[in-house]
Amino acid sequence: MSPRARPQLAIYPGSFDPITRGHEDIVRRTLRFCDGVVVAVSHHATQLKHGLFSVGERLELIQQVFDDDERIEAVAFSGLLVDFARKREINLIVRGLRAVSDFEYEFQMALMNRDLQPGIETLFLAPDARYSFLSASLVREVAALGGDISAFVAPVVQKQILQKLGEQ
Ligand code: PNS
Repeated sequence: MSPRARPQLAIYPGSFDPITRGHEDIVRRTLRFCDGVVVAVSHHATQLKHGLFSVGERLELIQQVFDDDERIEAVAFSGLLVDFARKREINLIVRGLRAVSDFEYEFQMALMNRDLQPGIETLFLAPDARYSFLSASLVREVAALGGDISAFVAPVVQKQILQKLGEQ
C-alpha cells in the first residue's frame, strides 16, 4: 500500500462544556486511523444549552488535557461546521454515539452536513462502555450538586469546574 499523500485529518466538533473522559476517548480512538484530530468548539450549538465555560475557557481546557499529543489541535469556530471543514480542507467529521437516544439528532446532523457539502462524511464511534452514559451536562449537574466527578473528567477539568461553581 502506498503512503498517503496528505495526512488524514478529522474534525471532532462539539460544545465541550467541558471536555469529558468520553470526549477524550473518542479523540484517542480517532487517532488509531487518522493522523490528527481538530477538536472544534462551536460558538453555535444546534441544541440550546446553558453553558458553564466560555468558548475560550473550553479551548484552554482541551489544550491542557491533550498537552502531551501534538496530533491534537483545539480550535473554536463560528458559523456552519461544513464551512469550517471546507476552509481546513477536511472531509471527515467524527462524532461519538453513546446510545440509541443520540441517534436521531446525530443522523439528522450527518445528513444535513452532507447535503450542505457533498463529500463530507460523518463517522460515528462508540465510546468505551464506561463512558456510554456520560455527558458534559450531567457532569456539570453532578458537580453542582456536590457529587464526585473525578472518574468523568481530567483532574484539570475537575479543578476548573469546582472553581467555577464556587464563583457562582
Ligand atoms: O456537543 P454538541 O453540542 O452536541 O455539538 C453539536 C455541534 C456543535 C456539533 C453542532 O451544533 C454544530 O455542528 N454546530 C455548528 C453549526 C452548524 O453547522 N449547524 C448545522 C448542523 S447540521
